[in-house]
Parts: sequence; C-alpha cells; structure tokens
Amino acid sequence: MLVAVSGSSGFVGTALVAGLTAAGHDVVRLVRHRPAAANEAQWDPEQGVVPLARLAGVEAVVHLGGVSVGAHRWTRKFKRQLHQSRIRSTTVLASALTGLAARPRVFVCASAMGYYGPDRGRELLDEESGPGDGFLAGLCQDWEQAAAPAKAADIAVCHTRFGFVIGPDGGALKPLLPLFRLGLGGHFGNGEQFWSVISLHDTVRALRFLIEQHGSVGPYNVTSPEPVSNGEFSRVLAAELHRPRLLPVPGFALQLAVGQASEELLGSLRIVPARLAEAGFEFDHPDARAIIRAAL
Ligand SMILES: NC(=O)c1ccc[n+]([C@@H]2O[C@H](COP(=O)([O-])OP(=O)(O)OC[C@H]3O[C@@H](n4cnc5c(N)ncnc54)[C@H](OP(=O)(O)O)[C@@H]3O)[C@@H](O)[C@H]2O)c1
Repeated sequence: MLVAVSGSSGFVGTALVAGLTAAGHDVVRLVRHRPAAANEAQWDPEQGVVPLARLAGVEAVVHLGGVSVGAHRWTRKFKRQLHQSRIRSTTVLASALTGLAARPRVFVCASAMGYYGPDRGRELLDEESGPGDGFLAGLCQDWEQAAAPAKAADIAVCHTRFGFVIGPDGGALKPLLPLFRLGLGGHFGNGEQFWSVISLHDTVRALRFLIEQHGSVGPYNVTSPEPVSNGEFSRVLAAELHRPRLLPVPGFALQLAVGQASEELLGSLRIVPARLAEAGFEFDHPDARAIIRAAL
C-alpha cells in the first residue's frame, strides 16, 4: 500500500516510516524542507501548498505534523503556534485530499489525550466520554473538526488520541531519564494522578492497524490498556533502573519549570483504548513495566 506521512521527521513519524517500510508499504514523506530523497515530497502547510501529483495512488494518509509541544514554554504566543500549526495543516491537507482523482481510503490524523481535559480524576475515559475544558481540550476538538473536509468527501477519518508516547530515543520519558538515572527522580505532585502511556512500538503498530484494517473510522484512544498512577510509574521506572525513588517533585516546582505544560504531568487522565480493543488490536506492551522495559 502507498502511504503518505506528514511530520515524518518527528518522534512518532520516524518510527512510523520505519515500521511501514519494514512491513512492505511504500511511503511518501510530506516534508516542509526542500526534498532530499526520492520518497520526500514538499508541502507548505502555512501557504496551503500540497503536492497533489505525488499523492496519486495513495491509499492512506497519516498526518502527524504540528509545532512540537515540548519545544518551548507555553507562552500565549507559543500556544497560538501549537494551535494554528495543527488546525491549519489539517485543514489544508484534508481539503487537498478531496481534490485527488482517486481519494485515499483513510486519513489518520493525530489528536491527543488532552481532548479529555487536564484532569478527570479516577473517571474511566473511553472514546464516548465527552471532551474536557481548557486549552488542550479546545485545541484537540478544533484539530479533530479541522479534518471535516475529508470526512465530507467520504474518506474514513480516524482521530488518534495519543497518550504519552514512550520510546528509547525520547518522548515523554526523555526529560525524566537523566534524573532517575542519577537516582534523583520522584513522582510528580501527590503521585496519585493517572498517566495514560503507550510504547512507541505499540503506537506504530496501532497506526498500522488502523490503516491496514478496512473500516477504521472515528476517534481512537491510542494508550495502553492499563493506565497507571504517576507514583506507580515512577516506582517501576526507578526499580528498572536499579535506582532509589527519591522525593516527589512538588506541583509548584513543575509549574515554575515548565509553566502551563505542568497541567499535563499533574492532571489525572485514566484513559482506556476501548475502540482499538473492540477492533481486535492486541498490545505487545500492555502495562507500565513492559513499556518502560521496551524503552530502556
Ligand atoms: N509524542 C507524544 O507523546 C504525543 C502525545 C500526544 C499527541 N501527540 C501528537 O502526535 C503528533 C506526533 O507526535 P511527535 O511526538 O512525533 O511530534 P514531534 O516529534 O514534535 O514531531 C512533529 C513533526 O511535525 C512537523 N512540524 C513541525 N512544525 C510544524 C508546523 N508548523 N506545521 C506542520 N508540521 C510541523 C515536523 O516534521 P517535518 O519537519 O518533517 O514537517 C515535526 O517533526 C504531534 O502532532 C503531537 O502533538 C504526540
């Protein structure tokens, strides 16, 4: 199958392109720079330019592009960039796909667990749970809505609400590992908040599953089936690194260090991948220990 991927230089995109290629798929990488390889095609989401000729014959499109969430402190200006880069690029791509003579069967567009808001306590959240409040929840709703032109053209649109993706070279674990390796890591806040995490390996498998499986459509929580408390996650991480787990990192210190992004680390989201499970997807790394082991 021919698959187009945007954001393919990112953390998930790099692994996805490798996974698709290893599975025998052909990949067109939608890149914003001047193409440097035969499988790259240039697009300019800000100017609304999409290389339609290079998308001829594409059966699936995966859109992962957007300004990196961890690239900057969440100032008002940066939050605008986070929002605009996702909404604009999704609208541009979804609209362009409708102009293809042969439209792709499926358009998988990234979304995030932030859809459910910053903090839902112990509530079990599946895809039927309503959206939450706050900046990320608003962003995710607009992001999902931005794919409407593709939906209106009968392309099956999937919204992948990713949890914290954890992998060997980065992701959610990257800022934590040096601290834990030094024996200085502890849980955040009171540690009781639920974290919905997933291994990079299972993230790629889930994306492949959605594009390979005919009939995938709508929102999918892309999180492991066993959300853990942040305290349990840091306990397992310290144990796997054979380091002590030290004092908790207080909420106000996180707020000082990363600003509003601390909401993501301190809020509680207990998300289950109900629709992936219903569709028969099986996780290779279903719990925190397996996810951490795979990453280390
Ligand atoms: N990783 C996670 O834990 C996680 C959790 C929830 C949601 N997500 C979402 O899933 C998607 C992929 O995550 P990721 O961790 O792979 O992200 P990432 O490493 O930050 O990569 C995002 C990619 O988006 C492209 N990009 C950057 N600025 C852009 C802009 N202004 N307009 C369009 N594209 C732009 C870049 O690729 P090019 O330079 O090749 O265009 C970049 O490599 C993101 O949208 C992210 O918000 C990720």
